[in-house]
Amino acid sequence: MDKAKRIGILTSGGDSPGMNAAVVSVARCANEKGLQLMGIKRGYNGLLGLSDRPEDDIEYMAMETVLDIMDMRGTYLRTARCLPFLKPEVRMEAAKSLKKQGIEALVVIGGDGSYHGALELCKLGIPCIGIPGTIDNDLSYTEATLGYDTAVNVCVEAVRSIRATSRSHDRPAVVEVMGRNCGDIAMRTAIATGAEMVIVPEMEWDMLELADRLRYLIQKGNTRATLIISEHCWHKMKPFDWRKVIADSGRIIHEDDPLNSERLALVLKLLCNTESRATVIGYTQRGAIPTAYDSAFAFDAGRMAVDLLTKDVASFQNGYAIGVHDGRVYSTAFADALDENRKKFFDEDLYHLINRL
Ligand code: F6P
Repeated sequence: MDKAKRIGILTSGGDSPGMNAAVVSVARCANEKGLQLMGIKRGYNGLLGLSDRPEDDIEYMAMETVLDIMDMRGTYLRTARCLPFLKPEVRMEAAKSLKKQGIEALVVIGGDGSYHGALELCKLGIPCIGIPGTIDNDLSYTEATLGYDTAVNVCVEAVRSIRATSRSHDRPAVVEVMGRNCGDIAMRTAIATGAEMVIVPEMEWDMLELADRLRYLIQKGNTRATLIISEHCWHKMKPFDWRKVIADSGRIIHEDDPLNSERLALVLKLLCNTESRATVIGYTQRGAIPTAYDSAFAFDAGRMAVDLLTKDVASFQNGYAIGVHDGRVYSTAFADALDENRKKFFDEDLYHLINRL
């Protein structure tokens, strides 16, 4: 096989702004090169006939359909996290299904879980290209993931509004953003909005120090300070009996009630004797319209994916992941992109600076 004639594309994992734009870019570039593009629905599930209507799981991406999805939010192809795909026999089925459909190569838009699946498919003789579609920016081989810029912009917009209301009421705010185990969305949002406190999963944090910081800010006249908190950082709190603080205030709290943003706002209110409110930004980060940066990144990534696929796909045993290096789109082997020895950079100095200024 010199070059693929029919290729597949799927989106997998959490949806991220720019996924549709990447599909459109692949479709347009594939069309120009005379490749046929098949859209696979709901991630790897679409290869396994797991849905209620398996006959709809693979769709020819005609140009008329494709051009219409450019402005659509979410992912037209739908997405899913496919746990069965962790099993070798299931991946064999998927490879067989691709071969049966005449799909010789696959573009996978997703995060690291999706990349692991793609790497395994490469080993089964299906050349794969990865486009890093996730808002989390948690992949160490790339400076940016598709959707991250949009997610940050959504958070910045939300925090600016929250800070306006906080100022009106002299009331501090706790704002929770997404990111899984990566604090990049929180850090970027904090520096872009002037938030005075940030908590991320990369760093241990201390409730009493946080309360000291808030008290200090209030004493200095900053009655609307903002704490940006990244999800999944609760286990990084140094031991502190926050339930006792709530119980001592006469409120009901149970042993198995977990700490969350709302309870954190309450604990700060009680420790600092100030009102405070919590907002969880949630899925607005994922369902947003991609920024110009993400849309252009999607275009460049799609174009590179097709360029790679029109080269000698027989040499694709390790597949390719597309990323950004020094501000430019580049490609590297999946195995390199997933190398666990390469640690994602976290700017500790910046973290301390935000919490100090
Ligand atoms: O990976 C994107 C992401 O939004 C993470 O930030 C978050 O932890 C996770 O997905 C949430 O997944 P779900 O939407 O399945 O709850």
